[in-house]
Amino acid sequence: MVITRHDEARAVLADPRYVPPPVRQDAPPYTLGWLRAQVSRFSSGETHAERRRALDKRLAQLDPAALRRMAREATLERGGDRTGVPTAVLAAALGVAAPVSLVEAAATGYLSGEETPEADAAVAELTALLGDGPPAVTDLTLLLQAHAATEGLIANALTHADRAGVAGSHRDQGGAAAPHGDQGGAAASRGDRAGVEGLLQETLRHDPPLKASRRVERTTGEEVVIDLVAANRDPAVFADPERFDPARGETPHLTFGHGLRPCPASAHALALAAGVLDGLRATADRSAPLPEGDL
Ligand code: HEM
Repeated sequence: MVITRHDEARAVLADPRYVPPPVRQDAPPYTLGWLRAQVSRFSSGETHAERRRALDKRLAQLDPAALRRMAREATLERGGDRTGVPTAVLAAALGVAAPVSLVEAAATGYLSGEETPEADAAVAELTALLGDGPPAVTDLTLLLQAHAATEGLIANALTHADRAGVAGSHRDQGGAAAPHGDQGGAAASRGDRAGVEGLLQETLRHDPPLKASRRVERTTGEEVVIDLVAANRDPAVFADPERFDPARGETPHLTFGHGLRPCPASAHALALAAGVLDGLRATADRSAPLPEGDL
């Protein structure tokens, strides 16, 4: 069953009868399958509650404002080369030596469960570097969950910024038509007023980096796919839902999940993405030619 309505999606995500699709528990140690069997994300019941408490405790040690500053500085230092910045900053803030390339290789199959030799090798290397006990698994799951989603959010936000000429993008100041029929100029002026936060919030609603969430009904085994794109554009909840409008502010989008197991790091994700966009804007400001007449 595919769910597209916002109210139905919220109901499933808040209902304990619906759990994440179970993962195999017999994978050899230090493989991707082994890691997936250890983490909060794919567990349920008391095991999930316990692992989730460990995640919340670890995340409470990370200050989103500091993450944003670090992401800005790292992006600026790299001259605007943003790829990998969120993961590198998160690893530094956690105080772990986890190369971005290994996180990326392991993250590739983390959500889908596609077990490849590359992903297995990356998990083995990461556990050799970080350890294989519960604290290391907590840090690893944070890095793997964060990686693709945060990179995806930034990429999607930049696409909109480019089209509308807002935050982080000094190109195309309102000339081109923005997506879904919006006019670039109008979106640009709304976007400039709304700033980086407005751009990110609306990108989360309009173009979620993760397009779907899956659940299984515990007793019947029925699989439910929640179509986040459709739910985030449900006309019963969002006025003019197809229009990308950074001035909407915070909306009840479901991109960070809802109910029993929403993303525990939405503030951290937003801070990392905002920091990268701040850094891109600062890089562009630095390289912009001085106005004529300036000394
Ligand atoms: C734009 C970026 C992000 C998005 C859209 C996102 C979205 C989500 C969603 C929807 C879930 C719940 C999945 C479900 O309901 O089955 C989730 C879980 C999770 N996210 Fe995020 N996330 C993002 C960034 C991050 C970051 C930066 C971190 C870590 C610093 C993180 C850590 C986690 C963890 C550990 C879980 C599992 C929670 C649990 O097991 O209860 N996420 N995320």
